[in-house]
Amino acid sequence: MIPGRVLIIDDEESFRHMLSVILQKENYEVEIASNGEEGLRKLTSSHFDQVLCDIRMPQMDGMEFLEEAKKVAAGVTIIMMSAYGTIDTAIEAMKLGAYDYVSKPFKPDEIILTLKKAEERERLRKENELLRKEIQKEYSFNNIVSKNQKMLDIFEVIKKVAPYKSTILITGESGTGKELIARALHYHSDRSGRPFIPVNCGAIPENLLESELFGHAKGAFTDAVRMKKGLFEEADGGTLFLDEIGELPAPLQVKLLRVLQDGEIRRVGESKSIQIDVRIIAATVKDLAREVRENRFREDLFYRLNVLPIHLPPLRERREDIPLLVNHFVNKYSQAMNKPVRGISPKALEVLVNYKWSGNVRELENTIERAIVLTDKENIELENLPIELQNFREETPAAPLAEEEYSIKKASKVLEIGLIKKALKKTKGNHTHAARLLEISHRALLYKIREYGIVENER
Ligand SMILES: Nc1ncnc2c1ncn2[C@@H]1O[C@H](COP(=O)(O)OP(=O)(O)OP(=O)(O)O)[C@@H](O)[C@H]1O
Ligand SMILES: [Mg+2]
Repeated sequence: MIPGRVLIIDDEESFRHMLSVILQKENYEVEIASNGEEGLRKLTSSHFDQVLCDIRMPQMDGMEFLEEAKKVAAGVTIIMMSAYGTIDTAIEAMKLGAYDYVSKPFKPDEIILTLKKAEERERLRKENELLRKEIQKEYSFNNIVSKNQKMLDIFEVIKKVAPYKSTILITGESGTGKELIARALHYHSDRSGRPFIPVNCGAIPENLLESELFGHAKGAFTDAVRMKKGLFEEADGGTLFLDEIGELPAPLQVKLLRVLQDGEIRRVGESKSIQIDVRIIAATVKDLAREVRENRFREDLFYRLNVLPIHLPPLRERREDIPLLVNHFVNKYSQAMNKPVRGISPKALEVLVNYKWSGNVRELENTIERAIVLTDKENIELENLPIELQNFREETPAAPLAEEEYSIKKASKVLEIGLIKKALKKTKGNHTHAARLLEISHRALLYKIREYGIVENER
């Protein structure tokens, strides 16, 4: 780390000089001031990383300087020095915002060590801030990729409802981005500085789930050797994400309903309730209304949860997102793995656009990650895709168009691709026979196969 700029404030000329020499030897850039006022002027007009300030000085003393300095340069690290130091002054200086305190006289090593420690702390603080920003960025809209109208509408809804505490129910098939959306809701609310805690209601054994969620008193049951806070308490001020809510056992459905109604929880084995402030976001792959009809989910809880429903469409109903997502994941994983992969060949992309994607975006993401591991070229090629994708053929004409798509040209292309594939399948890849079925010339067929990047089965 490069030594920073240090301002020395002391009324004693010989001391200032001695300290300057010590610091300059360690490559610090040093400025000096002989009293608080002069120091404050320098601090206002220039940038310093650290200030070493004497406490006893005529005119403005160290304590006064400290108070003023915090107003003009909030981020600067101030270390106080004094020969008359008592513990009281030290504590008072720290209370006023000084980072540390050294008593004169001190050895050169001692002051250098103090400066280094302060630098390290500052570095960690900055790193932390950066990481927090990174995490927030990761879940901002910029990282939820879509141009599908239904998804864009959902982004608008998120912006609108994020600031409120209303309960939200997110539904959608596995891998459609439910958790991603839940996090986006959290990070777009003023709860973002507080925890976002995900709980998978289906993954925790029924007998443990209650104490996981609500905590327990000491001695509440055999293993309860000490009091434990539950996840509701841990999430206080933030968001609790109840994933797979459809798996919540009936007794806990009642308890959750009570939390939603009263805003309080009770630890297992305790009689008094605790007030909590938690936003609930629930998610499920199940059709909860049907679960209610079939008596597996409480109707009253369903209505409590379903205040603001968000339904994420499966990937096969928004195929226009596939090229975007592919691009997004290619960037993500080529960077992460430090491989110079730029894109994907048209043939491979065509296969991806037409695949059924029952595992939705997660499955697509895994496919791209794997392909980037396997490829040693600039582009992902057909052979880098899993064999079941390479062999996948839709029975019906290719990709259905997005709902909001009216272009005749695009629709005809989709239709043509579907018919050509069907004909090639039927004729086991014989171009002449396929062209006859399609009632086009042999040359036209070859042209179209190339133009549309149609993948042919090995003959
Ligand atoms: N629109 C999107 N843009 C970018 N990445 C996405 C998008 N949707 C989902 N993903 C990514 O796909 C993966 C799966 O998303 P997520 O975990 O949110 O799905 P889920 O609906 O909670 O799935 P499950 O029901 O299986 O838990 C994650 O890595 C997520 O970042
Ligand atoms: Mg999930």
